Amino acid sequence: MAKLLWLGLFCLCLTLSHGKGSVYDGFKIYELAKRSRSTGIDFVVSELVKNESYYELYNDDGTSAHIMVHPEAQPEFIQLLDGHTLSYKIVNQDVGSTLRREFDMNRMLRNRYPFQGRLGTERYYSHDEINQYIQQLAQQHPSRVFLKTVGKSFEGRWMKMIRITNGDGRPNKNVILMDGGIHAREWISPAAVIYAIGELVDNYEAHADLLLDYDWVILPVVNPDGYEYTQLSADTRLWRKTRQPRSTECIGTDPNRNFGFHWNEAGSSSNPCSETYAGPKAFSEPEAVVLRDVIHSLADRGQMYLTVHSYGNYVLHPWGYIDEVPDTWEDLDEVGRAGADAIKAATGTIYRVGCSTTLLGAAAGASDDYAFNAGFPISFTMELPRGGNNNFDPPASDIDRLVKETWVGIVAMGRKVIEKYPLK
Ligand code: ARG
Ligand code: ZN
Repeated sequence: MAKLLWLGLFCLCLTLSHGKGSVYDGFKIYELAKRSRSTGIDFVVSELVKNESYYELYNDDGTSAHIMVHPEAQPEFIQLLDGHTLSYKIVNQDVGSTLRREFDMNRMLRNRYPFQGRLGTERYYSHDEINQYIQQLAQQHPSRVFLKTVGKSFEGRWMKMIRITNGDGRPNKNVILMDGGIHAREWISPAAVIYAIGELVDNYEAHADLLLDYDWVILPVVNPDGYEYTQLSADTRLWRKTRQPRSTECIGTDPNRNFGFHWNEAGSSSNPCSETYAGPKAFSEPEAVVLRDVIHSLADRGQMYLTVHSYGNYVLHPWGYIDEVPDTWEDLDEVGRAGADAIKAATGTIYRVGCSTTLLGAAAGASDDYAFNAGFPISFTMELPRGGNNNFDPPASDIDRLVKETWVGIVAMGRKVIEKYPLK
C-alpha cells in the first residue's frame, strides 16, 4: 500500500516537474447572485452546468452559487450569462495556481508542526495521524475511551471508531453518533470532528452533562482513500468520491449517494464519471457498508446522528430524497435550531435549518436519511462554512475558529437531544 502510494507520488512529481502545470490551470470559479431567496440558480445556467466535463456546480450557501468552469467553456459561459443579463463575479481567477500555493503551504505546515501524538488546530492531519491520535487517546484513558476497528476501506485503510464515555462503566447508555470525511475534499469536516473528540475526552469535566447518560461514538474519516488522495497533490485536492475504479476512465462513487434507502431515485447519477455517481448498486462501497453497519449496531440506543460536511452553513434534516418532511419534523427543527442559535449567539455566523430537499434539492442515498430511517430520531447533515480560494479549502489559519464555532453548535444540539430523549 505505502509502496504504491510512493510510486504514485513519484510519477506525479515527475509530471509536475516537467513543467506541465496542473489540471486546474485556467479554471475559474464564478459566483452568481441568486435572484430570489428560494429559486436557486437560473434555469439556463442549471441546464448548462449539467455538462460535468466542463462545469462543476457547488453547493450554494443560500446567498450565491459557485460554479467552477473549464477554460474551454468560459467563452460560452460568459456569453450565456451576458445574454440573460445575469450578473456574476469571478471569485477565483485560476484554480490551479491557488491549489498549488495551498499545497506548498500545507507541506510547510506539516514540517513545522510534526505529529506528536496530540492533534492541534495548526494544520490538517492525515488519516493515519488521526488513527494514531484516537488510538492513543484510548490507551491513555482506558476507562473512558474505547477504540474499535470497524472495517477497511477499498484501498485497505483501517477505519477506526472511537467511543467516548465518562468512565462510570454503565452500559447501554443512549448514543450520539457523529462522523466526518464522507466527502474527501471537505477537510474541515474531519478537523471539526477531531476537535469535538478532544473536547469530550480532555475537557470532559466541563461537559459532564453530555456524557452522563450518553456515549458519543465518532468515526472521524468515513472516506479515508479519498481523503488521502486529496492530500497527494494540487491536482487531486478537489476529489470528492471514494477511490474504487468503476469504469475504464472513471474512479469512485459518491459515498453519500450509495446508501440503500431510496437509492439513486433523485439527485444522483448513474454515470461513473459524475461527481454524484450513486455506484453500480446500493452499498457497493465498503466504506458505506462500514457506516451502515455502525448505524444499525447503534440504532436502538442512538438518538442523534450527525454527519459533518462542507459547505454552505446548513443544518439539514430529512427527508433528503423527496421534498417532504417526516411527521416528527418539529423535533428535528427544534434541535437544529438550538445549534444554529447557539452558533449565531457565539460568533454571528448564520446557519439555515431545514429539510435537506427543500434547501438544497433532493439527493437520495445519503447517510442522514438512512440513519433516520434506521431509528435515529434526530439525524442531520451539518454543512460547515466555506473557506479558502476554492470553498473546500479554508486555510489552516482558519481551522481553529471554524472548529470551535462548530463545537458550540454540536454542544447545543447535544444538550437539546439529551433533554428531549432522556435515558429510559
Ligand atoms: N451536500 C450533501 C451532499 O451532497 C448534502 C446531503 C444532504 N442530505 C440528503 N439526504 N440530501 O451529499
Ligand atoms: Zn459533503
